[in-house]
This record gives sequence, structure tokens and C-alpha cells, in this order.
Amino acid sequence: MNSRYIAAIDQGTTSTRCIIFDSDAEIVSVDQREHRQLYPKPGWVEHDAAEIWHNTEAVVRGALDHAGLSRADLAAVGITNQRETTLLWDATTGEPLHNAIVWQDTRTDRLIAKLGQGDVDRFREKSGLPLATYFSAPKIRWLLDTVPGLRERAERGEVRFGTMDTWLITKLTGRHATDVTNASRTMLMNLSTLDWDAELLEAFGVPRAILPEILPSSYVYGEAGGFLSGVPVAGALGDQQAALFGQTCFATGEAKCTYGTGSFLLLHTGDRPVLSERGLVTTVAYQIGDAAPAYALEGSIAVTGALVQWLRDNLGLISTAAEINDLAATVEDNGGCYIVPAFSGLFAPHWRSDARGVIAGLTGYVTKGHLARATLEATAWQVKEVVDAMAAESGVELTALKVDGGMTASDLLMQFQADVLDVPVVRPTIAETTCLGAAYAAGLAVGYWPDLETLRAKWRADRRWEPAMDARERDRGYRFWRKAVDRTMGWTE
Ligand code: G3P
Repeated sequence: MNSRYIAAIDQGTTSTRCIIFDSDAEIVSVDQREHRQLYPKPGWVEHDAAEIWHNTEAVVRGALDHAGLSRADLAAVGITNQRETTLLWDATTGEPLHNAIVWQDTRTDRLIAKLGQGDVDRFREKSGLPLATYFSAPKIRWLLDTVPGLRERAERGEVRFGTMDTWLITKLTGRHATDVTNASRTMLMNLSTLDWDAELLEAFGVPRAILPEILPSSYVYGEAGGFLSGVPVAGALGDQQAALFGQTCFATGEAKCTYGTGSFLLLHTGDRPVLSERGLVTTVAYQIGDAAPAYALEGSIAVTGALVQWLRDNLGLISTAAEINDLAATVEDNGGCYIVPAFSGLFAPHWRSDARGVIAGLTGYVTKGHLARATLEATAWQVKEVVDAMAAESGVELTALKVDGGMTASDLLMQFQADVLDVPVVRPTIAETTCLGAAYAAGLAVGYWPDLETLRAKWRADRRWEPAMDARERDRGYRFWRKAVDRTMGWTE
């Protein structure tokens, strides 16, 4: 066994954490800090990039301290991150020029409607993505159009753009770079050339001068300075791609679903992008050094765990996220109540920026227990919608679903998920697959682990939920779910 370690930084939507792994892929230590969610207006979501950088330093130091390690014990560091979240900073001082605009933010919905003119697929062939507020390009456009003087400065090359991977890579190494998986979420990268695309830049009014260089996911970006001085920064992947990698889905046809703030199902489609006709997203899965990239089809769901947080923070129905299970277990079923959390519009497979959330089926019978149950069920129904789209698109029926992420701790949810999908749901022993994927990418780049087969051998099933729901009950539930979804659409003006 190698006596050194790999650190993974996961810069997520609600928190930043660092996990240190040993060469058996066992967790040696963890540290985590939440950052503030800033909601300046309805539908707007921002993060303070300086706070995120401060937390990043703190959690890396914390994880090293907890394990009694120093930076010299690290063979490499890998980065994974919330994707699409958009930041502009001053090229000279490195100071942010605005808060980061978070992927969930819907402030660009009018711009999206204008650009699309009824065709959400206008840029799908090149970018693999439907036109939606979700991706970075409209957020950059909004910043350049809104912040006084910014466009002129950007055109003069005085401004840098980055998603959160780029922010951290630049802070750590001084190199203005992104990885190809994160670049594939900006809506500015051409999926075939893996380079910024002139037509897309033109359509969104983004000057090329602000963009980072695009590099592979498993690759030495440079050596860190400062508190990690000398440690190679050797991997970067968007968090959902990192989870796919951590679940060792290295072959065509392998898939995983990660349950976090949102939930994201990714299916490895091999070395060619497959364009979706059913509301899925085509994205780069990973690229190891100079090898050809792997692609994935993705079903992106904006709000799943975030609905549990909303029940906690906005309604005060629970005081910790874990309590949702106890509250849901006080009742037998949802009491006829359905919650569709279209807080950021609806993502896959609907792509409706004009949708907003609803609670449907309310009667005097409904209690907070039913609301808790409907909250968990909302996650499972949304995942069913993307699984159905994926099956129709690829013609391959799922035989089991590999899952990971915080919400897989909920037995009730995982059982309900297996029930509504009618396939087994399987969780691996290492549920921290996002950090693990970033660690694997970094470890491969510096030769800490030799190859993908070595990594694959580390995957083991921990828990499996078998479907047990009667088909009639499932069909009835799904019918009501779809009725509730219909009621969210066309809400904004
Ligand atoms: O695309 C958004 C996604 O990357 C966010 O993931 O885990 O921070 O909710 P998470």
C-alpha cells in the first residue's frame, strides 16, 4: 500500500468539503463547511466566491489536521464541483466582480425565451444542451449586460470567467483552466471539437478573451502554491461526472444516479456524443489525459434534496434534514398530496423555464407527515421521469440503478425508488462517490493508481432495495404525479 494519500475537494451547491483517501480508496478523514445561499430576489440564487475560497482552504487544512497529515503526505489533489455556477473576476487582482450566479438561478428566463424563439433545441446539436437558464452562457451574458462597464472590460481582456472548478484551479495553481466536463456545461463548448465555439460565443455575446483553456479531467493542471505548496492539482470533474467516475461506470451502458441538492442520472454512452430527442442532456463524462473523451446522457433534476432543506429552513417543519424520514414514517402514504418542486423551472425531461412549484391534492386530511412523505416521493417520481426518458432514448431497459449521495441514507426513499422504477436500487460501500471520482482522476494522472481496472475492483455493493409495489398502485401514483407536473407549467409571465 502507498504511504501517501489523495485529497479530493468537493465544492458543492450548499457546502465545500475535503475528503482524504488512501490507496485502498478508504476514507481517512473528512472536513466540511456550509456557505451562505443568497436570494436577492425570487428565483435568484448567488454565492460569495470569496467565502467559498475561504471555506476551501479551511476544509483542506481541517481534513489534513484531523488525520495528523501535512501537505507532504499528499500525492495529489483532485477537484469536483457544482457545475454551471458562473463567476467573473478581475484578471489582474483576482477579485470577484459580482457574486457567483448559481446554476439554480432563473433570472435569465426572458433572455432564454428570446434566444430560443420557441425552439429550446436551437443550440443542441453543437452544445448537447437545451436552451435553459441552468447553463453558464446566459448567466455570463446577464453579467456583461448588467454590471456597468463589464462588457468593455471583458473585451479588453481584463476579466476572467470560470465555473467553480476554474475558480479553485486558478486560486491554487495560478492557471486559468477548466476541465472538459465543466466546459461542456457552459453552452459555449462544441461537443465534437472540445473547444469554445465561435457561433455559440457570438449568440451569447461572450468574448473569447474571458474564457479559460479547456483541459482533460485526469491531468496535471499544475502545482499548488500557498498552503498546499508543491502538491499537484491533477484532476477536475463536474460533480455529477465525478460521481459516475467514482461509481466506476467506465463502460458504455453503465449508469448512476446521485441524490444531492438536485438529482442527476448519467448513462455512459461511449466515445461519441448521442443527441437526445427526449429532453436529456448530452455531456462529456470524462477525459483521461490525451485519450478520447467518454460521453454521457444525463437526466438533470434541479430540486430534490433542496426540497427537504426548504421544508427545514423555509417552513420549519423539521429541524434537521434527517428528520424528514421520521416525519414521513408517521403516516402510511402521501394522503393524496403531491409536491412538484419546480423552484428553478422544470429541468429534464421537460425543460420548462416557465414552470414554478406546486403542492397539489390538498384536503383537510393532509398533515405535515403527508407533506414529508410527498417530499421524499417527489424525488423518486422525478427520477422515474428521467429513467423512462433514458430507456426510450437508448432502447436499453435498466436492470438495476446504482445510487449515491446524501439522500440514499433514507431507507424510505430508496425503497419507494425501487418500487416506482420496478428495478432494484443498489448503493456501494463508498457512498462518497463524488469525492472518490475526483480522487480517482487525480490519482490516475500522477500514477498513484495504475489503471481503470484497479479502480473498478474497488467497487462493492453495500445495500440493495428490491421493488415490492403492485403495478396498479405504481401506475395510479404516476398518473397523479403527472397531473401535478402539468399544473406547474406556464406560471411565469
Ligand atoms: O448541475 C448542478 C450540479 O452539479 C449540482 O450538484 O450536488 O451541488 O447539488 P450538487
